[in-house]
Amino acid sequence: MNMKTSPRELDGVDWRSYAAVYDLMAEINPAYQELVDAYRRFATQLWLHPDDLLLELGAGTGNFSLVAADEWPKCRVLHVDANEGMNDQARRKREALGLTNVEMRTQDVATLELPDESVTVVTVVHALYAFPDPAAVIRRMFRWLRPGGSVFACDPGRPLDMTEWARYLFQSSRAERGWLRTAWLFWRGRDVARQNRRIARSQVAGSYWRHDAQSFARAFTDAGFEVEFSRTAYRGASDLLVARKAVATAAVPLRRQAVEAPL
Ligand SMILES: C[S@@+](CC[C@H](N)C(=O)[O-])C[C@H]1O[C@@H](n2cnc3c(N)ncnc32)[C@H](O)[C@@H]1O
Repeated sequence: MNMKTSPRELDGVDWRSYAAVYDLMAEINPAYQELVDAYRRFATQLWLHPDDLLLELGAGTGNFSLVAADEWPKCRVLHVDANEGMNDQARRKREALGLTNVEMRTQDVATLELPDESVTVVTVVHALYAFPDPAAVIRRMFRWLRPGGSVFACDPGRPLDMTEWARYLFQSSRAERGWLRTAWLFWRGRDVARQNRRIARSQVAGSYWRHDAQSFARAFTDAGFEVEFSRTAYRGASDLLVARKAVATAAVPLRRQAVEAPL
């Protein structure tokens, strides 16, 4: 399958306007919160050294990079996102949490240069599909990772049924917050639905990467990774995996144990 995407459409996602309301969606979306919980479980299973570098690509408002920084205060976290609006939100949260070990960098992943074997963990959540050449990014992740290092990757591989998702989000929020607050949140967050419809249109049109669990895992094994764990996530819309760059002789394990279900 050719994973190289065509040039962005005029109708592409407006990440800047998405940034302003992204965390509203995150707050009312139990499926997203489950992903953050799975990531925290993954992060607590790592076995890292002070100063190790944890990299996140397409890191958005920092819901994953800040978990990594919080779990591993002696390690360095590099949060990379092309959108300054997303990074502004992430910086605000970093200040509120008082975390000093995470750098937010505004850069397109296509131009990111890091030394080979300088990174211990790469995280990429709901962002690979939007990169112009996901396969090339996965190959570069492999180069940047030191032997024994891990990737946590989750990506929506199929267009979302936006009507069904709106119903799910509305019902779960109404049960927790009541009608009025939920209606207000939906009104404030209406741009989330607009941007998600654009994402779904780009997936249908083939300009965003589509995959199932097998083809997602294959993209990593083709780049040289060993896939240790994979499952679907985000109510079946996304594929999630943990992969590892093998070491010839694993002198120093970077995780207490191989990742096991449930993540
Ligand atoms: C749906 S958001 C996911 C954010 C975060 N990973 C999360 O799950 O909350 C996708 C992010 O990818 C970023 N992005 C898209 N294309 C990018 C590129 N070429 N380089 C870097 N970031 C990019 C967007 O700015 C956006 O913040």
